[in-house]
Amino acid sequence: MLAEALAGCVVDDPDQGIFTVHRDVYRDPAIFALEMRYIFERTWVFLGIEDQIARPHDYLATWIGRQPVLVMRDGDGKVGAFLNTCRHRGAVLTQRERGNARVHVCAYHAWTFHSNGRCASIKDHKDGGYSEAFEREDHDLVPVARFASYRGLMFGSLGADVPPLEEHLGDTRFFLDLILDQSPHGIELLPGSSTYVYKGNWKMQLDNALDGYHLTSVHPSFMKIVKQRQSGESQNQLATIDFAAYRQRGGFTFGNGHAAVWTRNPLPQIRPLYGLVDELRQRVGETRAGLMLDTRNVVLFPNVQFAENASLQLRVLRPLAVDRTEMRSYVIAPKGEPPEARELRLRQFEDFFNSSGLATPDDTTCYEDCQTGYRAQDVGWTQGYARGMTSVRRGANALAKQLGIEPATSQYGDVAIQDETVFHSGYREWRRLMVKGANDDAVAKATGREGGR
Ligand code: FES
Ligand SMILES: [Fe+2]
Repeated sequence: MLAEALAGCVVDDPDQGIFTVHRDVYRDPAIFALEMRYIFERTWVFLGIEDQIARPHDYLATWIGRQPVLVMRDGDGKVGAFLNTCRHRGAVLTQRERGNARVHVCAYHAWTFHSNGRCASIKDHKDGGYSEAFEREDHDLVPVARFASYRGLMFGSLGADVPPLEEHLGDTRFFLDLILDQSPHGIELLPGSSTYVYKGNWKMQLDNALDGYHLTSVHPSFMKIVKQRQSGESQNQLATIDFAAYRQRGGFTFGNGHAAVWTRNPLPQIRPLYGLVDELRQRVGETRAGLMLDTRNVVLFPNVQFAENASLQLRVLRPLAVDRTEMRSYVIAPKGEPPEARELRLRQFEDFFNSSGLATPDDTTCYEDCQTGYRAQDVGWTQGYARGMTSVRRGANALAKQLGIEPATSQYGDVAIQDETVFHSGYREWRRLMVKGANDDAVAKATGREGGR
């Protein structure tokens, strides 16, 4: 029953030219609670990048859906992910998002835990009058069921029933490699980040990074400022992207909800990477170096986005409620890039992506307007996933074949398509996981196998 109702929230009938999503998925708190349980707590979720915990005993506190997680590098350099909750009476083990600690001392009753998750000590243990049953228990931090890293990008899953990470990422790895290979030394997150909360559903941000349709209507102020800089009317001469010059765009969807869009960049010289182009061509080849200078957004379902147009942004989203989402935003840079490229990267980021930049507040205002509009309960279905239905092709197009990737769908053409089929993979995965979760729970209930670890 529940599985059927959830399946009915996404109507996916490409042969009839229909793809639509029911607005309840953005506004119903009961559906939100199920999303946390069936999506965020049962599939691979992005945690961070290994560079954030580069040294022994470095740690990163983050979240998988509703649950606090502590990622730690131990003294031997091994990284592990644990539920961030003291085994005694539950306190989280750090108030800080990042830091370095050989042991974590719980602030409440001072149980201590090694950076490998093992319980180091129980305060006043021997005088505690503990029973043998207590002594037989394991007091270590509880590891996240699955933890894996793809070239330094760390993911965890609270559900054990997930495919290997590389299989989960599939050919999105081609697009991740376009970021990870920008320097022979790897990538780093630059110091500083911004965290903000918008009053809208998490899927709005997931969609928007793939949404070419909104650029000219939401960001005209940015486009106008770019023009003023180009004409000399503005004294600010920052080189940055120019939406008005875009001509060709394409996108690919992949299994497991992932997708990538790209736009041919007619101004490759504005990219901070441009100064390294000769080295890149030699190291990764002409085609991949060219793609690195184009603009690309990659979305890995359900919680991470890599946005590369002005500068290169990592966005990690965390749903807080059906109508509230926390965003964490970071600058990604290739390690060892020249100082002038680094400066351009930072200035472009502040200009466009920063939470106070020329783009982000306009985007989040639109999400909040949508969330308000979705309170119109008498309107059931979105009409926002229909553009591009007649031009998308199933499987690989010529470009995908040239790149050696096998997407689920391919789109390519004039920038005016402003495709919306690129969202379909996320909603297909949404439906798959929600239906699977409901069915699995029904079986567990019927067979009496419910309950946590
Ligand atoms: S809650 Fe951690 S020591 Fe008591
Ligand atoms: Fe935008």
